[in-house]
Amino acid sequence: MRHLLSILDLTVEEIDSMISTAQDILDHPERYREACRDKILATLFFEPSTRTRLSFESAMLGLGGRVLGFSDASSSSTRKGESVADTISVVSGYADIIAMRHPKEGAPLVASQHTRVPVINAGDGGHHHPTQTLTDLLTIRRETGRFEDLTIGLCGDLKFGRTVHSLIEAMSRYRGVRFVLISPRELALPPLMVEELAEQGIPCTQCQSLEEQMGALDILYMTRIQRERFSSEEEYQRLKDSYILTPDKLAGAKEGMMILHPLPRVNEIDPRVDDDPRAAYFRQAYYGRYIRMALILHLLGQAEGTAVTPDKGRPRYPQNQLPGAVCGNPHCITTIEQGLEQRFLRDGKTGEYRCLYCESKAE
Ligand code: CP
Repeated sequence: MRHLLSILDLTVEEIDSMISTAQDILDHPERYREACRDKILATLFFEPSTRTRLSFESAMLGLGGRVLGFSDASSSSTRKGESVADTISVVSGYADIIAMRHPKEGAPLVASQHTRVPVINAGDGGHHHPTQTLTDLLTIRRETGRFEDLTIGLCGDLKFGRTVHSLIEAMSRYRGVRFVLISPRELALPPLMVEELAEQGIPCTQCQSLEEQMGALDILYMTRIQRERFSSEEEYQRLKDSYILTPDKLAGAKEGMMILHPLPRVNEIDPRVDDDPRAAYFRQAYYGRYIRMALILHLLGQAEGTAVTPDKGRPRYPQNQLPGAVCGNPHCITTIEQGLEQRFLRDGKTGEYRCLYCESKAE
C-alpha cells in the first residue's frame, strides 16, 4: 500500500505518468467515468479548505466513486478529544482512500501508521502540501512544456508556506532549475531547506525585492502570508502587505513568464493582474481536479497491486533513534497526539537528528 505524505514519496517517473493520465482525463473525461465505481473517498479536513477538499471530492465523483467526510474538525469527534490515530483507524474501515488536512505537522504520517487504506496528505501545517505541488507541476507542464532550465521566483511567506516547501522539493529534481527566494527576512525559507539546496548544488538566491528579480523569472509563484501560523497578530499585521503584485510591477517581466499562486489570495495579487495572459492561477486551480483524479487512480491501483512501483523517491534518514530528546516545534503533531512517542532519525549526511514527524532538528 502506498501513501502520499511528501512529494518525494513519488518518483519523477510516477509524476510523469500521473501528468499523462491527467492530460488524458482532460481530453477524454468520458473514458474515466466508471473508473472508481463502488470506491469511497473520505475527506477529513481538520483545517479550512476550498480547492483541495472540493477538487478531491469532484475528482472522485468524476471517476464514478462516492465521497464522505467532514470539512470542520469541530463537527467531528476530534472536538471530544479523539486522536488522529483513532479517527483514522475507524474511518479507514469506511472508505477505500483518505485525503486529510491537519494543522499539525506530521499528522498524515501518524495517519499512515494506523490506516488500512492509502492516505493522502492534503496539507499538514506549514510542512508539506504534495497534491498542490502535483497541481503546480501539471500547470507548469501544460503552460511551458518543460520542467528543466527554469528560474523560479517564490515570493511571500516562505517560512510557513507548505506549498513552497513541496514545490522546491519537487523542482529540485530537474536539471537547470534555479530558485529565487523573495521574502521578508522574518519569513525566509527554513534554514534546513536552504542548506539542502546548497548540498545539492542547486542555485538559489535569497532577497527581499520582487521588482529587482522580476526580469529574470520564468515562473513567479506568489504566496499568501499565512496569518494562521503566526504566534503574534502584531507581527502578522506588520508583514501582511510585504508584497502586492500589480500590473505596473509586471512591466519588467518576461513576456512568457507564468504567474502561479496556490490560492486563496488575500491581497498579494491585485485583481487587475487577473486579465494578464501570464496569470495562470485560476487555470492552476482548475487543473487540480484532474491531477487528483490521476492520483486517486494511481494510489488505488497500487493498493490493489495492479501497478506497483518501488518507492525510490524518499532517500530520507537511516532509522537511528534518539531516546529522551524532545521535538521543539510547537506545530508538530507530537505536541497533541496522545501516546505518540518522540522519534528522531539521523540524517546520514550531516549527522543531525530530526523529528520523524515534522523533520525539525532535535532539541
Ligand atoms: N491551495 C489550497 O490548498 O487551497 P485550499 O486551502 O482552498 O484548499
